[in-house]
Amino acid sequence: MKAPLTIERNASLRDCNTFGIDVCAHALLRVTDPTQLATVRNEPELAAMPRLVLGGGSNVLLTGDFSGLVLLMANRGIALEGEDEQAVYVRAAAGENWHEFVLWTLDQGLAGLENLALIPGSVGAAPVQNIGAYGAEVRDCLHSLTLFDFDTGSIRRFSNAECAFGYRDSVFKRQLKNRAVILDVTFALPKRWQPNTGYADVAAELAARGIAQPTPRQICDAIIAIRQRKLPDPARLGNAGSFFKNPAVSDAQKQALAVRFPQLVSYAQEDGSHKLAAGWLVDQAGWKGKIEGRAGVSETQALVLVNRGGASGQEIAQLAQAIAADVQAKFGVALEAEPLII
Ligand code: EPU
Repeated sequence: MKAPLTIERNASLRDCNTFGIDVCAHALLRVTDPTQLATVRNEPELAAMPRLVLGGGSNVLLTGDFSGLVLLMANRGIALEGEDEQAVYVRAAAGENWHEFVLWTLDQGLAGLENLALIPGSVGAAPVQNIGAYGAEVRDCLHSLTLFDFDTGSIRRFSNAECAFGYRDSVFKRQLKNRAVILDVTFALPKRWQPNTGYADVAAELAARGIAQPTPRQICDAIIAIRQRKLPDPARLGNAGSFFKNPAVSDAQKQALAVRFPQLVSYAQEDGSHKLAAGWLVDQAGWKGKIEGRAGVSETQALVLVNRGGASGQEIAQLAQAIAADVQAKFGVALEAEPLII
């Protein structure tokens, strides 16, 4: 049976983005069934509109009304797909809440996603920016996904390799931007699980709890505690997590900076480059806790820009520009925004 197509006109997006920016979409469709996308493609008026796919809206900064069609992914369902010697395969619909899905896997005795606990957003959005935290990224456990291709009108299955994952990056932010809508994601959760506790904050939190050989659930609990301490809860203070990516610099540039700034925090990469902790750069430049009208910088994590109440997307974007210009002037390093700025 064909799912009905209920298009909301001039729909408020305030509750659809974790910054809580109060703008409208010309048209909005809550996608509860993937067949609705084929219908959209066949309706000339809707097919001609610019599209914006939203999951939890936790990685987007809306700087004005969106004069197109917002596709709000709201399909649900989680199912065990099977298993082999290596892994148990679980498929989750794009509209499922990410953190609730992580907890569901742990409740089933399945490990692998615990380091990614409490990341705001939806299952379908997770591969788009290859969400990551505490030494893990979604690509580590992602087996494949299915998507609706607006160019061809077909449903396609993508393997992990086809997603072309990078640091907070994938083919869905590049070649397939505005073209693909992720419908569901299949995870391969390893049967021979190894704890991933190398990240300093995680090791320290487990040590403080007196845990030497943590279970997946204990790692999840430790990560929830760290995140609650450091990252403002978007339900209380609008934000989109890290606003800037950790920038990569050459070995020569890193060495030169380390001479000038001995406390510089950096992480060596396999290709010989180094990632700099953008939070450290922004903090050192004096922006942590700064208030600019209704926008501001978190007091606990300098990478997080916040809506202090009623801020416009423009105000947040201006604050981000001022921070990036200052970091460029002080350190000679360019910061790149992590959320999509619309
Ligand atoms: N730091 C400061 N001041 C700050 C923030 C950080 O000096 O205000 C220093 C810290 O002391 C630490 C270093 O910077 O030495 C790194 O900080 P942290 O461990 O908090 O992580 P991060 O690099 O700032 C990244 C991710 C987060 C993720 C954490 C944990 C990016 C852009 N951000 O932050 O991801 O939760 O690591 O793995 O890669 C997100 O993407 O939205 C996000 C929150």
